[in-house]
Order: sequence, then structure tokens, then C-alpha cells
Amino acid sequence: MSDKRIYIFDTTLRDGEQVPGCKLNTRQKVEIARELERLGVDVIEAGFPISSPGDFESVEVIAKMVKDVTVCGLTRSVQKDIDVAADALRYAKRPRIHTGIGTSDSHIKYKFRSNREEIIERAVAAVKYAKRYVEDVEFYAEDAGRTDNEYLARVMEAVIKAGATVLNIPDTTGYCLPDEYGRKIKYLKENVKGIEKAILSTHCHNDLGLATANSIAGVQNGARQIECTINGVGERAGNTSLEEVVMIMRQQATLNFETNINTKMLKYMSELVSDKMGVPVQPNKAIVGANAFAHSSGIHQDGVIKKRETYEIINPLDVGVDQSAIVLTARSGRAALAYRAKEVGYNLTKDQLDLIYIDFLKLADKKKEVDEVDLQVLLSNRLVAVRA
Ligand code: KIV
Ligand code: ZN
Repeated sequence: MSDKRIYIFDTTLRDGEQVPGCKLNTRQKVEIARELERLGVDVIEAGFPISSPGDFESVEVIAKMVKDVTVCGLTRSVQKDIDVAADALRYAKRPRIHTGIGTSDSHIKYKFRSNREEIIERAVAAVKYAKRYVEDVEFYAEDAGRTDNEYLARVMEAVIKAGATVLNIPDTTGYCLPDEYGRKIKYLKENVKGIEKAILSTHCHNDLGLATANSIAGVQNGARQIECTINGVGERAGNTSLEEVVMIMRQQATLNFETNINTKMLKYMSELVSDKMGVPVQPNKAIVGANAFAHSSGIHQDGVIKKRETYEIINPLDVGVDQSAIVLTARSGRAALAYRAKEVGYNLTKDQLDLIYIDFLKLADKKKEVDEVDLQVLLSNRLVAVRA
């Protein structure tokens, strides 16, 4: 595989779904998994099989159904978890067990009441145990974002020796700054013996709004897999948003990365996940929010009507949005009003436009948005319009 290729590991059905209010049943998970496969993700993390019979069933059904994509199940570094995950994945064409343990001092001391050496032993034992079942074993070092780099490198070296194929470096608490996270990945690339045998993976949370920036810093410094979710759903402030990292890599040619994602499905996937989870997408969400391609101020509208690229860096068609929207508000100018009037069948002269614009502003000051029905009424009331 070329050095440009970045693998997209989708965890909408595991890290995204474990959030209160985002719970999905097996039927919903299977439907989303089918569409994730069409979208072109490389890995679907289908669930945490030991967590509940429902999650076990979801992983099992998805593993049977999906053909071209790796299906992954999460475990702790606990033998029973690994047994159950292996069982749920037994029909998968490409199974992956994702096992791991906390490596930051706070996790080691307070969560595990353990010490650094014992954590390495547990990590190695878990990877070796998972290797009895599957070839493809991903290891996560939970809270790697706050783990001292030297120790993290020792953990990684040990799990590679034990057979780990992918090394996940989660910024579990969303703590890192982009250059700090990037340096962590670089440090591992440069200091872990055997690193060339494994793929480094980013897994960033959005507590400081930096998940996307951190993931990109990760791949710029040698990671080759990004873990992310549709709409950025996930614990607390969420995970890295799939649509954001994919479009950054597509739009920014100097990064020189490529993914297998069919970007024309991004808007559809966002709506599908939002609908199934019952969680709305914020209107100003990058790429897929309702306002991502909507223009409401007069200056921007005038520019976009003259040439779309003046205020848009992405062609909406590339992410499955039919067209940019010119929204009529009290901040809109004559150019937008004439444009929208033409769309509903009125070709206004300059004088007609001046007249209608006065009516329009009066209405727009009272309403948040002048919609198509309002516009039709305004135009027909004035009787000054000429059918286009
Ligand atoms: O954020 C995290 O550390 C995780 C791991 C379980 C991979 O989700
Ligand atoms: Zn996570």
C-alpha cells in the first residue's frame, strides 16, 4: 500500500454508540454497518462484545454480513473479554481484536492500583492471548495522550514483540495540543524497535475541540490509521469526525494523503446516523451541518452568486449536498433577492427589485428567515413582477 494511503477506522458503532442517548439496537447497527462498507471505510469497530448480549449479537451479525472490510471488536486486557470477542468475530472474513489497557500514571495508579512493569506484562499477555484467535490484533494504550513518551515507547515495543499489528495511541481525554500529539507519534516512529512491522493509529477525543487537528497532526507525523466517527459522535465532547478528516485530506493536496472514502456519501451518512441515534447535527457542523453550504450575508451571497469558490472551498456536490443555499435574511442584499426570485420564476427589473427589496427588508426584520412561501407572497402582492 502506498505511503499516501490513510486507513479509516470507523468507531461510530462502538465509541460513538456508547454515549447516553446514542444507543442503537442490532437492526440499526447492521443497517449503519452496511452503509459504512459502501462508504469505503477500512475498519468497522462493531462493538464491545462482552459488554452486553445485544452488543455481542451486533458484532456477530455484522461480522457475518460485511465482506470487504475488517470487522473489529473491543476488549479490555482480560482473557474472558478476548474469548467473547473472538467468538463474536468467528464468521468475519477479516477479524480484528482490539485490546488494550491504560498506560498513563493516573490510570496505572488509580484505576489499576498497579505499576508500570505489571501493566506491560498485562498488555503483552493480552496481545499474545488475542493472537491465539486472530492474526490482526490492535493494541490501545488508553490515555496515551497523557502517558510519558518514554514509557509509552516501551509498552509499544513489548506489544509489537507479542504480535500487535496496529498500535492505537488514544488521546482519551482530549488533552493534547496538535504539535504535542504529532511529536508523540513521531517519537514512537523514531524510538520503538520494530515499529515498521505495525501501523500507528490515532484515536482522538474532542474535549478541547482539537480531535480533528490532533488526528491530522498524527498522520503528518507517521500514523497511517485514523479512528473516527460519523458526525464526531462519542464520549463527552465526541471523537474525531470522519467527514472532517476525510475532507481535510481531500482538499489539502499538500498533505499528499488519500483515503478510500466515497465522499459523495458523507451527507447521507451523517443524516442516517443522526436519524438512527436520534441526535441532531449542529447546524454549523463542518461539512455536514445544515449551514455548511448556506450563505446569508449580502456580501457573501453576492460573491457566491458571481462565483461559488469566492466563499466555498468545497464543492457541495463532492459531499452529497445538492447545491449551496442562498438564505434570505435581513442581512441579505439585492443580488440574493433577485437570485431567489428568479429561482421561483420571477425575472425582476432593477426598478421592480428596488421596490420588492423594501418590502422584503420589512418582513426580514420580523422573521429569522424569509422562506420560499414568503417570497412568493411578497412578489405576487406587489404585482410588479414579470414571469421569467
Ligand atoms: O478513548 C479511548 O481510549 C478508547 C479506547 C478504548 C480505544 O476509546
Ligand atoms: Zn475513545
